[in-house]
Amino acid sequence: MTWQTTQLTPPGDRIDLGIGQPDPVLLPADLFKQTSVDASVLAYGAEAGDERFRYALANWLNQRQSQPASPDNLMVTTGSSNALDMICTRFSQPGDTVLVEDPTYFIARKQLAEHGLTAVAVPMDDDGVDILELAALIEQHRPAFFYTVPTFHNPTGITQSAERRAQLVALARDTACPVVADEVYQYLYYAKPPPDPLASLDERAPVLSIGSFSKLLAPGLRLGWIQGQPEMLTRLIGSALLSSGGGLAPVTSSLVRPLLEDGRFDQHLTRLTGIYRKRLATLLRGLEDNLGDRLAWKAPEGGYFVWAHWRNGANTDAMLPRAHKAGVGYQPGSKFSDSPDQASAMRLCFAFYDEAQLTEACVRLSQL
Ligand SMILES: Cc1ncc(COP(=O)(O)O)c(C=O)c1O
Repeated sequence: MTWQTTQLTPPGDRIDLGIGQPDPVLLPADLFKQTSVDASVLAYGAEAGDERFRYALANWLNQRQSQPASPDNLMVTTGSSNALDMICTRFSQPGDTVLVEDPTYFIARKQLAEHGLTAVAVPMDDDGVDILELAALIEQHRPAFFYTVPTFHNPTGITQSAERRAQLVALARDTACPVVADEVYQYLYYAKPPPDPLASLDERAPVLSIGSFSKLLAPGLRLGWIQGQPEMLTRLIGSALLSSGGGLAPVTSSLVRPLLEDGRFDQHLTRLTGIYRKRLATLLRGLEDNLGDRLAWKAPEGGYFVWAHWRNGANTDAMLPRAHKAGVGYQPGSKFSDSPDQASAMRLCFAFYDEAQLTEACVRLSQL
C-alpha cells in the first residue's frame, strides 16, 4: 500500500516545466533529523505567532534589509497562501475590487475569486507595475487592496525597481490603498540582491509584505510570515481564526527557529541558490540553442520562472496537448491573464528538474 502524502505525483516521462514546486531531492530532511518539541509549543500559541521565532526571524531579516524589522511588525502564518487568505478575510468584503498585476499568479486569482472579489488587472513594464495606471485605477475603483509580486514576479520574473517601489509606497500612503506584496521569491536571487521588501520602506504606508519558507526550505512546513505596520497586523491578529485556534504553526516555528539562529538555514539557502543559479543558466542556454529564433523572453535574476512568448503568436493553451504528446509541459499564459497579449506566453519553471532534464525539455519544446 502506498499512502498519498504529497500534493503532486510527477507525470511519468513528461518533463513538466509547469510545476512550480521545489525539486523533492532538494528538500532538507536532514535538518530535521535531531528535532524534538518543547511542551510549551504544544499549547495554543500566541496570536501573532511564537515570539522567540519572530525575534529570530526579525534578526535574520535585518541582516538582509536596510530598514529594521522587529518582532512587533511580524506575524506568523502557515505560508503565503494562508497569509493572502487571511488578508482577504480581514481587509475586504465580498463584492470589493482588488487590483492585481497583469499577468499575475494564477492561484492568487482563484483565491480572490473564492472571497467574492473582482480582480482588475494593471499593466506592467520591465520595472514592475505601471504606477500611473495604478493610480488611475485606485481612483476609479477604490479597491480593497493592490496585490503585487514585486520580486522575481510569478509568472514574468520581473523585479520592481527601487524607484518604482518608492513610487508605489508613496502612492499607497497618499491614497490609503493597502498594498499586499507577495514576496515568496525575495531571497532566491542568483545575481545581485533585489531591492528591500516593500513593507520595510515606509512605516507610515499601509503595506504588508508576505514571506514564506515554502521555497526557501520546504513547503510541507507550511510556515511563513507577514511584515507590516503594527495597526494592520493588529487587525489580522484580532481575527476569530486566531482567537479560536491560537497563533499559527507553533510547533513548526520551534523546529525552524534553531536553524535561523545557528546558520544552518543560511547554509541550506546558499547551496539551494547555487543549484538554482545553474539550473536557470541551463534553461536559458537550452532556450537560446533550440528556440532562440522562435521564442522571446527576458532572463530573470532570481525566483523560479522564465516567461517566454512564441514570436509567431501561437496560442499556448491550444498547443498544450501537443506539448504533452511531445513529453513536455508548461503553464499557459491564459492562466495568468485574460489579455490576448499573454495567450502566446508560457511559464517555464527551472526549479523542479535537474539540468539534464531542463536541456531535454528545451529539445522537446523545439519539436512543437
Ligand atoms: C507568488 C506565489 N505566492 C504564493 C505561493 C505559495 O506559497 P506558500 O506555499 O507559502 O503558500 C507561490 C508558490 O508557487 C507563489 O509563486
